[in-house]
Parts: sequence; C-alpha cells; structure tokens
Amino acid sequence: MTSTWADVDDFFTTHLLPADDALSSAMATSVAEGLPPISVTPPQGKLLQLLAQMVGAKRILEIGTLGAYSTIWMARAIPRDGRIVTLEIDAHHADVARRNLERAGVSDRVEVRLGDAAQSLAAMRASGETPFDFVFIDADKKSSDVYFYEALALSHPGTAIVVDNVVRDGKVADAQSDDPDIQGIRRMTERLAKEKRVTATAIQTVGGKSYDGFLLAIVGA
Ligand code: SAH
Ligand code: DHB
Ligand code: MG
Repeated sequence: MTSTWADVDDFFTTHLLPADDALSSAMATSVAEGLPPISVTPPQGKLLQLLAQMVGAKRILEIGTLGAYSTIWMARAIPRDGRIVTLEIDAHHADVARRNLERAGVSDRVEVRLGDAAQSLAAMRASGETPFDFVFIDADKKSSDVYFYEALALSHPGTAIVVDNVVRDGKVADAQSDDPDIQGIRRMTERLAKEKRVTATAIQTVGGKSYDGFLLAIVGA
C-alpha cells in the first residue's frame, strides 16, 4: 500500500502545494548534509501551517528542529513580527537548520535553541517565557509526556498542541511494548486522559512516510 499512499500524497502535493524554492532547497540541503529523512511530508507541513493559521498563531514553539523543514512551513503562518522558538539537541542539525532558515528568509523570526529540549523547556519556564499560541512536539518520542507537560506550562487558554508520530505503524496500541518511544507516547496519552486543562484527539495517517499519526490538543481555561 505504501506506493499508493505516496502516489496520493504526490497528487495532492502537485495540485494544492505550490512549488516553493525555500522548502525544496531545505529538503535537498538536509539530504546532502546527511540528516535522517524524517521531516514531516509536504502535506503534513502544510497542515501545520494551516492549523497555526487557524489559531492565529504569532508565537510558535517547536520541539525537534532537524533541518527546519517543518519550521519553514510554520513560519509561513505567522506575521513578520511573530516568533518561532525551535529546540534541537544536535549541533549539526541546528547548523543546517539555521542555513535553511536564512535561505528561506525567515531567520529574523526563528530562534534555533541548541540543547536538550527538557532542559531548554525548564529554563524557559523558570525565566517566565511569554506563552506560545501553537506548539509542535517532534523530538525523541520517549520524552513525549515530559515535552507535553512543559509545553502546557508554556501555553495559554486556546493554545493548540500537535504531537507528531504517535501511531508508529500501530505499535502505540501494544501495552506490552518494551520500546521506550512507544512507552513515552502511551504515558503521555494516559496522563492526558486525566488532564482537565486540555481536550485532545489523535488521528491515524498514511502517506509518503507510511503509517503514523498525530495528536491534537487545545488548552482550555
Ligand atoms: N520537526 C522536524 C523533524 C524533527 S526530527 C521536521 O518535521 O522537519 C527529530 C529531531 O529531534 C532531530 O533533529 C533530533 O536531533 C532532535 N532531538 C532528539 N532528541 C532531542 C532532545 N532531547 N532535545 C532536543 N532535540 C532532540
Ligand atoms: C522518527 C522521528 C520523526 O519525527 C518522524 O516523523 C519519523 C521517524 C524517528 O526517530 O524514527
Ligand atoms: Mg516527526
């Protein structure tokens, strides 16, 4: 089925996603620099842009930058005086990301913060960082629950939080899984069940990147 899924992605990409030099060069540079091919797909990137537009986001937090492919999509959603803070642990990824953001003409709006995301988030919370309107969680999956709760602490009523890769070929349904990534996603979801401050759903997806899914949450009052 995966070739059909990729064909369908190609069809919609051709018709709904105008060619964009910044995005295609960011992808090409990431490949040439040896980054793993795990960025969001073009239709998923555009979904992030549209979701951020739907909440009128001006301030966006991203956890897991890679080569800033998803970051550039989200930068398309914010006004010139908006801001994206994106967290990345790998210095080479951060370096490629900064170059891609520069070429995309959005580096004035985006800050790539190098370091372990859990530490960066704790520091942001401690320093009273202004809350974000939109959060995209896409780093190491084993820490999903930590990232979700840190993101919640940096949110306001109305903030939308998207978590990538919550399905993982269906492995998330396996309560017995010994994969720390699956355990992290399950822990986050189980905590969310009891969390009164957010309302959430999760959607399974297929596409160029096979079978996975995302979780979408809105922070309430
Ligand atoms: N959002 C990107 C893809 C991110 S891939 C896109 O769609 O284009 C996941 C990234 O998270 C990788 O670059 C990886 O180095 C980074 N990462 C992994 N563990 C991390 C951690 N503890 N803190 C911050 N970043 C981390
Ligand atoms: C992986 C990470 C991602 O963010 C993704 O979208 C797909 C795969 C991974 O670490 O395998
Ligand atoms: Mg991902």
